Amino acid sequence: VIYLDHAATAPLERAVLEEMWPYLTGSFGNPSSHHAVGQQAAAAVDRSRERVAAVLGCRPAEVIFTGSGTEAANLAVKGVALANPRGRHLITSAVEHKAVLEAMLALARHNGFDVTILPVDRSGLVDVAAVAAAVRPDTTLVSLMYANNEVGTIEPVVEVAAVCHDAGVPFHTDAVQAVGHLSLSVGADLLSLSAHKFGGPKGVGALFARRGIPLVPLVDGGGQERGRRSGTENVAGAVGLAAALELAEADRAAEAPRLMALRDRLIDTVLASVPAAVLTGHRTQRLPHHASFCFEGVAGEAVLLELEMEGVCCSSGSACAAGSQDPSHVLTAMGIPADLAQTAVRFTMGPGTTADEVDEVARLLPLATARVRSLAETR
Ligand SMILES: Cc1ncc(COP(=O)(O)O)c(C=O)c1O
Repeated sequence: VIYLDHAATAPLERAVLEEMWPYLTGSFGNPSSHHAVGQQAAAAVDRSRERVAAVLGCRPAEVIFTGSGTEAANLAVKGVALANPRGRHLITSAVEHKAVLEAMLALARHNGFDVTILPVDRSGLVDVAAVAAAVRPDTTLVSLMYANNEVGTIEPVVEVAAVCHDAGVPFHTDAVQAVGHLSLSVGADLLSLSAHKFGGPKGVGALFARRGIPLVPLVDGGGQERGRRSGTENVAGAVGLAAALELAEADRAAEAPRLMALRDRLIDTVLASVPAAVLTGHRTQRLPHHASFCFEGVAGEAVLLELEMEGVCCSSGSACAAGSQDPSHVLTAMGIPADLAQTAVRFTMGPGTTADEVDEVARLLPLATARVRSLAETR
């Protein structure tokens, strides 16, 4: 199998599993237990928090482990909004993952918040000046994703962080797709991560929340995570997230240029060899491992099936929206018409991806799209 769907999820690294293993077996304690078995587990969570903090360049107390990237984003958005430091106005972009968009829309529905959803240009970029213009005295949070999962576009988060800082408004970035690809030092007050996107296990995420940012917990109970996320800690998950984050960050300098070369080779070949192919997202300001296209007149789902028969796993865009008949909200926000949006195909590479695999996909894609086109014509 040629797996080019790393933006959906990445395989667990063996070294990460080996670090997790003791906490799934012998050292199985509950970190809240005062006996030795519990304290071993508590030490593992503390150590993991320190490792994450070291990568992020923050204090360990500013790292909150969660059950997913979705939960981390929800805690950032709802946690800050419900603490309500300035008022009931929130700002985000039209291309956010549903983890942020739906969290904001829920606040609008249930808590009377007013949400400004900023448009994007044809390449998926938010305009920094539009963020500045949208900030009001009652704006409580700005949330802008670091890099888009569907089209790979990297948003101007450093500039937006500066705008928010000047205005005194907390800034959250959903960095779920950025880890291992981009520097995480962007000046955000809150930043969300998800372990399974960078070689860690599924079902564990983390939120960096700068000291002093008011945060109402979403999950109340025994007061774990300094009262910000109750529930017995996922000890092995925290260890796995920390180990995977360290590895991804250590490999980034070498991996990013390697993946970028593979990405550009795939993009150039596909644009040259597949009729009516268009790249979606920004040509250069995009994730190093991400190539996404529309193939006019060729149903994306049919192309995925053709490629799957040849052993290639990729996706139409967002794993969450897969199977849905609605055109992607991201492509729609970028001004791509619904019929063209239905032709989207996304390839996302990872540490195991080779040049031979990319060349094989570039060879198969013109054949697959031609087959789908001819089948559609004979119908
Ligand atoms: C940009 C972005 N944010 C958030 C998430 C949600 O992360 P998780 O799968 O850990 O809930 C994803 C995953 O698809 C994502 O791509």
